[in-house]
Amino acid sequence: KNRSVSNLRAAVICVLGHVDTGKTKILDKLRRTSVQAGEAGGITQQIGATNVPIENIKEQTKIVRGISQTEFRIPGLLIIDTPGHASFSNLRSRGSSLCDMAILVVDIMHGLEEQTIESLNLLKAKKTPFVVALNKIDRLYDWSTMSRKDVRDIISSQGPNTQNEFQTRTKQVILQFAEQGMNAALFYENPDPKTYVSLVPTSAITGEGMGNLLALLVTNCQSMLAKRLMFSEELQATVLEVKAITGLGTTIDCILVNGRLREGDTVVMATSDGGSIVTQIRSLLMPQPMKELRVKNDYIEHKEVVAAQGVKIAAKDLEKVIAGLNILVARSPDEVEICKEEVVKDLARELGRIKLQDRGVLVQASTLGSLEALLEFLKDSKIPYSSVKIGPVVKRDVMKASSMLERENQYGTILAFDVKVERDAQELADQLGVKIFQADIIYHLFDQFTAHREQLK
Ligand code: GTP
Ligand code: NA
Ligand code: MG
Repeated sequence: KNRSVSNLRAAVICVLGHVDTGKTKILDKLRRTSVQAGEAGGITQQIGATNVPIENIKEQTKIVRGISQTEFRIPGLLIIDTPGHASFSNLRSRGSSLCDMAILVVDIMHGLEEQTIESLNLLKAKKTPFVVALNKIDRLYDWSTMSRKDVRDIISSQGPNTQNEFQTRTKQVILQFAEQGMNAALFYENPDPKTYVSLVPTSAITGEGMGNLLALLVTNCQSMLAKRLMFSEELQATVLEVKAITGLGTTIDCILVNGRLREGDTVVMATSDGGSIVTQIRSLLMPQPMKELRVKNDYIEHKEVVAAQGVKIAAKDLEKVIAGLNILVARSPDEVEICKEEVVKDLARELGRIKLQDRGVLVQASTLGSLEALLEFLKDSKIPYSSVKIGPVVKRDVMKASSMLERENQYGTILAFDVKVERDAQELADQLGVKIFQADIIYHLFDQFTAHREQLK
């Protein structure tokens, strides 16, 4: 009921692309933030979310030629940032399956790279429409910066050598898309937006093309996705991350794609022990508009949140909730049992996909996404794993690792990715000779483990 084109929700936009093409920087430029500078190693390792209200988009698209004819009908964009590093393919997959439309970021100096192609294939498989941000144009030879203008005018005002380089590199990228079986064209030369993907030249550092990128997203969403964006009351919400916040206890960050959540709602979610929790929403917190949900902010409390939004939920007993799975709301007491069964089945399906070896290291991570990312990396590095867990390292985990120690020394090891190690667990490990490696960057874990293995040889 009530679904209509006059009641659209915010479009969920996922930013995808190869590592270091500038995905987070593009969002920083748009938000006037500096999230990228605060990331460990400048590498994105989690999915993020930012609410961009339509007022901000109107402001930032003022410089776009012809925009005055556009009627803005969506209430804004919810932009999801994803990691570009090879090992996070599951987060890219999750982000791209959540979204209505995507921005595929390509570094104009590098063209299509490995994870660009991987992302492209995800988008093709899900038939998700997307635009390409042809980023880092400020790195073209002798580029002169003039950000508060339509990018078409900026390009035509560059010197002849700069324009030449721009044309050559753009043609190269178009050719690379053709090799992937896709038509692509600069957005202002696009002969048919239904069959050609549009390239928008951008610089996340100097700001050129950012307004054009936003304008194209909004107009494409409105013309191609109006039906899909009609607000629906049927709840669709996914847990992105489980996080302890000083003063709030354990909270969850989630993406509400459809429906609404209210303070006091009874929510049901899967937990890392294979069961589920039923709890009441104590508060619904949203970052200020234009702030990143994954960064600690001053949150605003809401009685009700209507899709599409990125929202933080505070409630009791969230410690064991698993990121990456759906949140269900039980509207009546009879629904509680049904919801519990459903979330447990969801989790079993996800973990059931993981193949374990008889001999191998123990792996623990903070979320389903980061666990999958680490496993992907271990698989590529030919490091076998015999057990996986989501959550902190406790004594029981060390006991389990020590039994592996008897079978093969090097595998008496716990790789703890972005999780705590309880003090008594560490003490027990020291006693038993179990190695625990702890890091918040995947390679660091890998480096520590390979150094350890070398030492044993
Ligand atoms: P991952 O999240 O790790 O995949 O990387 P990312 O795609 O989010 O890239 P990020 O925003 O971390 O930027 C990578 C590097 O490129 C940083 O050093 C940025 O400052 C730089 N960079 C990003 N965009 C631009 C741009 O438009 N021009 C220039 N010159 N540098 C840029
Ligand atoms: Na980066
Ligand atoms: Mg990033």
